[in-house]
Amino acid sequence: MTTRRELRLNAFQMASPGHTWAGLWRHPRDTGSAYNSLDYWVDLARTAERGLFDGIFLADVLGQYDVYAGTADAALSRAAQAPNLDPFLVVPAMAQATRHLGFGVTANLTYEYPYPFARRITTLDHLTGGRVGWNIVTGYLESGARGMGQDTTRAHDTRYEAGDDFLEAAYKLWEGSWEAGAVRRDRAGGVFTDPARVHRIRHDGPYYRIDGRHLAEPSPQRTPVLYQAGTSSRGKIFAGRHAEAVFLNGQTKPLAAKAVRDLREAARAAGRDPYDIRMFLGATVIVAPTRAEALSLRDEYARYIDVEGQLALVSGWTGIDLSALGPDEALAYVKTNAMQSLVENLTQGGERPFTRADFAEFGPRGARAPFIVGAPSEVADELVAWAEATDADGFNLTRAVAPETLEAFVDLVVPELQSRGVFKTRYAEGTLREKLFPGSGPHLGASHPGAGFRRGTPQAFPAAS
Ligand SMILES: Cc1cc2nc3c(=O)[nH]c(=O)nc-3n(C[C@H](O)[C@H](O)[C@H](O)COP(=O)(O)O)c2cc1C
Repeated sequence: MTTRRELRLNAFQMASPGHTWAGLWRHPRDTGSAYNSLDYWVDLARTAERGLFDGIFLADVLGQYDVYAGTADAALSRAAQAPNLDPFLVVPAMAQATRHLGFGVTANLTYEYPYPFARRITTLDHLTGGRVGWNIVTGYLESGARGMGQDTTRAHDTRYEAGDDFLEAAYKLWEGSWEAGAVRRDRAGGVFTDPARVHRIRHDGPYYRIDGRHLAEPSPQRTPVLYQAGTSSRGKIFAGRHAEAVFLNGQTKPLAAKAVRDLREAARAAGRDPYDIRMFLGATVIVAPTRAEALSLRDEYARYIDVEGQLALVSGWTGIDLSALGPDEALAYVKTNAMQSLVENLTQGGERPFTRADFAEFGPRGARAPFIVGAPSEVADELVAWAEATDADGFNLTRAVAPETLEAFVDLVVPELQSRGVFKTRYAEGTLREKLFPGSGPHLGASHPGAGFRRGTPQAFPAAS
């Protein structure tokens, strides 16, 4: 069985002892509790590069999961994405230990300013040799807003509007401030940078203002590869405009296929090629040499899933306190200010609404995404089937027991995918963007709105001054 495109793979991680499967940190072989050491990250990066992964995708959240029972106690005691470290700071060590691996780093723009944030991204793009992506998120936890001294989060759609403004300001800095060739490094002439070729950016948007030059010289990609995750109606418009890659979930093939279709349509509506966005579907894969061994591994892991931890996570994501839900009561749709797309999936997507038991199931419903268990050939069949049925480009492989779930995938599934001709056998040269989009250059493609802020190119948006 072949698919018409080569599959893309990211290892989905977080700088926290627990990620999306609460409780697995307790498994005797899990090393996730060492998330605060460089060795942990360097080992992980080497494993992912050994498997020719496109990248490590680092989730992040600003705030703690205190929606469940109105307290963060469950999240803290069960390590439900708490404690968590700044994902930016674990990247340089991984970059030093690898040559090709990309890094998709999540940052919540709501609590950043474009001027210093653009420099932080540029710094990372320099230090990684052009291997950085930014997963643009806008936040969903009220606790994060309070931590930032705000009474409440911005309203759901307003977050995306502010995101448009943030991105426009950032494009101006990344693309329009420093001309190519502005940096001369001319020792004899005593000129490091030609001031005439570094332009002052004036941005006067509804949310952000800038009057200044970008602080850093252009990095290999200038604008990082732009990831996005969030598939509400407004989220899709945002992705259609800005995203070069989207991370999405969906517990059934039709649900995920619809999200992919809508996102490609949103890109088309924004004047871009629908296939200018790489779609990564979240997936949990439990693989072993034989099916029987894989099933027994799944059962072994399942014993460590922490129900309270799972409920704390889902309560935070949805903005709905699941402690109030009866054991067999189905979740009812409410419009919340958190992840609206997830609330829709859980209540209206799939065959039936979710119950408490579903959230704690170590299976497709608990994953809300492909959950694949089997021998290597069965896993490969399933991955290809999901990609074909949904038109996704690849998978963000969710961490279960670290590092063994990733190691098993690299050792057992990657060769299987390669032998079918659906996965690369070596890395292409170039930046993350060039690897994700063969034949492209290191910079944003011409049809991307950010490219319009480049000096000397036709302007799709008002020019940077
Ligand atoms: C698969 C997926 C992964 C996400 N990862 C993060 C994350 O790491 N950090 C974060 O703050 N938000 C994350 N989000 C939240 C989204 O960025 C977005 O804020 C949220 O889904 C609400 O938008 P929506 O209603 O358009 O989906 C994720 C969302 C999805 C669907």
